[in-house]
This record gives sequence, C-alpha cells and structure tokens, in this order.
Amino acid sequence: MNLILMGLPGAGKGTQAEKIVEKYQIPHISTGDMFRLAIKEGTELGNKAKSFMDKGELVPDEVTIGIVRERLSKDDCKKGFLLDGFPRTVAQAQALEDLLTDMEQSLDYVLHVDVPKDDLVKRLTGRRICPDCGATYHVIYNPPKQEGICDKDGATLIQRKDDQPETVSKRLEVNLEQTQPMLDFYRDKGYLVSINGSQEISKVFQDIDDKLGELA
Ligand code: AP5
Ligand code: MG
Repeated sequence: MNLILMGLPGAGKGTQAEKIVEKYQIPHISTGDMFRLAIKEGTELGNKAKSFMDKGELVPDEVTIGIVRERLSKDDCKKGFLLDGFPRTVAQAQALEDLLTDMEQSLDYVLHVDVPKDDLVKRLTGRRICPDCGATYHVIYNPPKQEGICDKDGATLIQRKDDQPETVSKRLEVNLEQTQPMLDFYRDKGYLVSINGSQEISKVFQDIDDKLGELA
C-alpha cells in the first residue's frame, strides 16, 4: 500500500497517520518529524532545516527530496509506505514520480484531509506533543488521560515551536499557496481521494479505512 497523506497544517495528518500505520503496518514517513529529529540531534540536516521551520517556511526542495529519496530506499518501504507532509510542492511531486518509477512502484491513493482554514488555528495552538514518542494530543479535542502527560510513556508534553500564533499564520499562508496546484496534479493522475477532516478523529479514520479497504 503506497499512500500519501496531504492536508494543510493542523488538518490531522499526523493524528490519522498514527492510526493508519498501526492497522496496516507500513512505515510512517513524515518529513516534519524527520526534520524535528535532526534538529534535536543537532545534525547538519537539522541546522539546514531549523531556520526555515522556525519561520514557518518550507525547507528547500533539494534538501527535502534528498531525505525522502534516502528513506524510501530502505528495505522496510518494500511492503509499502505512508508519506505524511511530502510532497508539498509540484516539484517535490514530480521528483517523487521519478523516484517511484526507479523503484518500479506506483501510488495507490493520495488522501487529502480537507479542513477549512479557519478551523486550523485553534487546532494548532491547542496541540501538545510527546517529545519522546511523538504522540499528538489537543488540550480540548483530544486530551491525554492526565493533563500534560503522554498516555503512552508518561513523558511531559510540550508545544511545538512553530505552533506559536505568528508562525501558524505564516505556515497556513505558505501551504495554502502550494495546495491547489498539488491537488490538480494528483486529481489529473487519478490518485486523489478527498476526506472530510472536520469530523471527529475516529470518524475521519473510519472514512480513510473504508477507502483503504478497497485495496485489499
Ligand atoms: P509538519 O510537521 O509536516 O507540519 P504541518 O504540515 O504544518 O502539519 P502539522 O504536523 O502541523 O499538522 P497535522 O496535519 O499533522 O495535524 P495533527 O494531526 O498534528 O512540517 C513542519 C515544517 O517542516 C513545515 O512547516 C516545513 O518548514 C517543514 N517541512 C515538512 N515537510 C516539508 C516538505 N515536504 N517540504 C518543505 N518543507 C517541509 O493535528 C493538529 C491538532 O489537531 C492536534 O492537536 C490534534 O490532536 C488535533 N486534531 C487532529 N484531528 C482532529 C479532528 N478531526 N478534530 C479535532 N481536532 C483534531
Ligand atoms: Mg504532522
């Protein structure tokens, strides 16, 4: 199963990805998570990505395409993959097409989690994440059992640096600009599936799962 999960910041890509990979046992490839890990580890990649991410801008295509190329070449991707937050520009989408051709693979679905822009600011500013396992929560919409503590490993939850209100508006602006051409690109190729992301988390997953069931 070769999947892309796309959607504006806060649409619920990470939240749904956790559920999809648990059920279908495919690797979750989130470029945002890869950059955050590189920043935490202080690597060269992290240093390159940090200045762009802190401002809410996109990391340059050549850097992003490079890390995805490397990740997709790993053995675990032979059984399928779930890309979260990549591609985000038409140039990245074209590079992915070439990569998949080299791998003798093709996409099954591009799942677009669709949420109106006005609902996203609240989702992003109320988000909390686990710094250790990456689990995602929301102070109102998806709270942990004990306030501020990860259900899975007991770590103290933190707020992402780019979830500050000023950075959130920049991220939305940048991503809105890129989204329409990407939707057109994948609609033309016949891969695009629109998912109503404004429903409860479990209902959004149900809709995705129904669609994925068609591949079985
Ligand atoms: P990335 O980490 O991918 O951030 P993003 O695209 O801005 O998306 P988010 O992770 O913020 O949102 P999400 O859709 O995963 O939502 P979530 O499930 O957490 O990228 C970060 C940065 O890295 C970029 O800005 C860029 O700089 C760089 N980057 C990454 N990829 C790149 C690329 N390809 N090219 C260039 N640069 C790149 O949910 C959000 C909140 O809402 C949570 O609190 C959650 O609990 C809640 N929630 C989820 N679903 C629901 C629901 N149905 N109802 C109510 N609340 C919900
Ligand atoms: Mg995410």
